[in-house]
Amino acid sequence: MRDFIKKPDADLCAYGTQDAPPISQIIETRLTRRGALKGLAAAGAYGLFGCAAPAPKPAGSSLTFAESGRFLDETHHVAPGYKADVLLRWGDPLHASAPAFNPQQQTAAAQEQQFGANNDYIAFMPLPRGSNTSTRGLLCVNHEYVLAPMMWPGYSPAEYAKSASREQCETEMAAVGHSIVEIENRGGQWTVNHASPYNRRISARSTTMRIAGPAAGHPRLSTRADVSGRRVMGTLANCAGGTTPWGTVLTAEENFQNSFSGDVGSGREAAAWKRMGIDGRGRNPWGRHFDRFNLNKEPNEVNRFGWIVEIDPYDPKSVPVKRTALGRCNQECANTVVSHDGRVALYKGDDKRMEYVYKFVTRDAYDLAKPDTGRDLLDNGTLYVARFAQDKMQWLPLVFGQGPLTKANGFENQGDVVIDSRRAADLLGATPMDRPEDVEVNPASGRVYVVCTFNENRKPDQVDAANPRGPNRHGHIIEIIPPVVNGKPDHTATECAWEFFVLGGDPKNAEHRARYHGPVSPSGWIAAPDNIAFDPKGRAWISTDGQDDFVGFADSLYAAETSGPHRGVTRNFLSCPRGAEVTGPAFTPDGKTLFLAIQHPADEKGSTFDKPSTRWPDFRADMPPRSSVLAITKADGGEIGS
Ligand code: FEO
Ligand code: CA
Ligand code: CA
Ligand code: CA
Repeated sequence: MRDFIKKPDADLCAYGTQDAPPISQIIETRLTRRGALKGLAAAGAYGLFGCAAPAPKPAGSSLTFAESGRFLDETHHVAPGYKADVLLRWGDPLHASAPAFNPQQQTAAAQEQQFGANNDYIAFMPLPRGSNTSTRGLLCVNHEYVLAPMMWPGYSPAEYAKSASREQCETEMAAVGHSIVEIENRGGQWTVNHASPYNRRISARSTTMRIAGPAAGHPRLSTRADVSGRRVMGTLANCAGGTTPWGTVLTAEENFQNSFSGDVGSGREAAAWKRMGIDGRGRNPWGRHFDRFNLNKEPNEVNRFGWIVEIDPYDPKSVPVKRTALGRCNQECANTVVSHDGRVALYKGDDKRMEYVYKFVTRDAYDLAKPDTGRDLLDNGTLYVARFAQDKMQWLPLVFGQGPLTKANGFENQGDVVIDSRRAADLLGATPMDRPEDVEVNPASGRVYVVCTFNENRKPDQVDAANPRGPNRHGHIIEIIPPVVNGKPDHTATECAWEFFVLGGDPKNAEHRARYHGPVSPSGWIAAPDNIAFDPKGRAWISTDGQDDFVGFADSLYAAETSGPHRGVTRNFLSCPRGAEVTGPAFTPDGKTLFLAIQHPADEKGSTFDKPSTRWPDFRADMPPRSSVLAITKADGGEIGS
């Protein structure tokens, strides 16, 4: 989701004149550390973080594609030799009997049988379950939110706020959540199987969910519709996510607060709302028609959102579960890994400026030979928050009764700790990050990549070892390096090493203070990194959200090696249409198809449903711009990036 960005002002030259240590000092301190030098020694002929070095040559890199250029136009551009087919668009029918998309006459009933709005996270789940096939599977896709100006013909902000109808609100609720769609590759072409029994929409409107973990049944989750505090209608604000080793999908409820309206100035929950950014402004008008989205009429409903939700895509009748043990925040993602001893670690970021990075470690081990041992595994374990120091980082436990997480500080039980996990993390002294979005393990190395989009609000005197630029307009990526036990990464460890992977920006522009491990090309440097995925070779694929705001060209997808002489050297693979961001990179197991979700094309100032800045991907006068999934393959059938 596009954040509300304050345009850069022209005061960067003042940067570095403050009392805070200059970035060069902070970065150089880190770079002279032993671990950093080791990593940098691998940069070989390119030397240390080569800012002004010549353009890179693909020679010697496993990423041999010719880079895409910079664009800001109406369509997408992929590297030469690749094709990017539109596979699923907002409104596409998911069943043989579903109605065709009629943008002039949208209904909730129709939308619930169609692909939802603003696609984000994508998981490719092979069929049959447990297989490793790359030609048939379930595409599991998040639908994050609706953009009223791009959704409704004749949109006017004043009218929408005053008189959006109940049916309009229900259609919006039906448009968010998640889609599960069976797809198949026949002769190099991916198609949707409309007859599949797996095809399913999960929405904010009509999908009942179970609440599990320490907040289940908590009085603060009790509402008139569900006194038990254990069942909730729907999910929303579904941004990125993850998968589990037992074949389920995790979807992250990010900006849930935008769907709730009311006066937040007083009342029992007022302080908690404030810390969670729940401001009652209700960007959706749902609270006018539905009491549960009105904070004053149903104050506990908002506590039932902001969680990680587990979905079993292989069972169309399964009830999704909100796993409250994982904590509550503006959840960006939830990526899992089986650690050295069989316990499962789950990593996630809280995507707000100055918020935190978390991990959860299960109490019990997962038995790969018995997938059933994954059921409810995420309900018991320890939630941690990250604190970075110059030389290492620590994971601090968010456990009721330990340290400051006691009744004296307003926590009655672990339910309170997870509902108010931001406040708990404050008390522990966690490190405020520059909008931590995706946090994902590279399966090839076990290193954990923390992607921080940007934070133009960080002041020069607020910089720290892990967030060394204030303001940070271009984002950065950190690698957390767990210790190795019995030859395997120990993701349960509470102390780890860490390094910078990339400090984004144009290395030729001194004001950006960008740093790369080797030279990047003029179209290869990165800004505003958001999602990350790893291909079967362990190479990183990084999508961006905000390049158009900060550096004047469309958002892109970049690839970078994670080891060897080209480590961290980003290369531009795809540029998206104007107004859009690139989300959801997901590979088939053979690395020969890359699925991408292009979100909110034409989302620009003055652009509306009737007069959009692009009509991507249909370019038809009777069709609005539509968020869509691209299936990208190489013309010669080879691996993506090869
Ligand atoms: Fe929905 Fe943080 O991106
Ligand atoms: Ca984002
Ligand atoms: Ca995102
Ligand atoms: Ca990811």
